[in-house]
Amino acid sequence: MAVRPDQLRIVHYPDPVLRRVAQPVEAVTDEVRAVARRMLQLMHEAPGVGLAAPQVGLPWRMFVANPTGEPDDDRVFINPVLSGPSREAASQQEGCLSLPGIQGDITRPTAITITALDLDGRSFTLTSDDLPARVWQHETDHLDGVLIIDKMPPIDRRANRRLLKELETAAPG
Ligand code: NI
Repeated sequence: MAVRPDQLRIVHYPDPVLRRVAQPVEAVTDEVRAVARRMLQLMHEAPGVGLAAPQVGLPWRMFVANPTGEPDDDRVFINPVLSGPSREAASQQEGCLSLPGIQGDITRPTAITITALDLDGRSFTLTSDDLPARVWQHETDHLDGVLIIDKMPPIDRRANRRLLKELETAAPG
């Protein structure tokens, strides 16, 4: 599959690509680097703090994140693996660029470690007990076809029911 990075756009629920289990990136090629750059651009334009490859229509295990918005904090995670979640968990409101307007309280471990490849294909490991930990978990969920609407409490799902219906109706095809 030849990817045209400049043609990538953020896809919205209920696009089926958002429900697929994404496949590992086999090699960090120029194509992968170009897609990552485009994803960072789309994330900043949105704006958002994270964007996973399925959200631009690619079932690849890769996401980009920048929890602060500072240019130096752009980071790409290829084939990420989470480990060592804290027993302590917290609930916080989350949104998603593929679910415009929808928000819900999502409970997640407050601290977690992530190991991934960078754009040079080198492995790195990071640990966070702050917003990055939440972003990594949200984006890794995307790689497994999991969305915040699956994890929000019933009260939030009810509050978002009309917006979800609208998204389902607006879906092309
Ligand atoms: Ni999302």
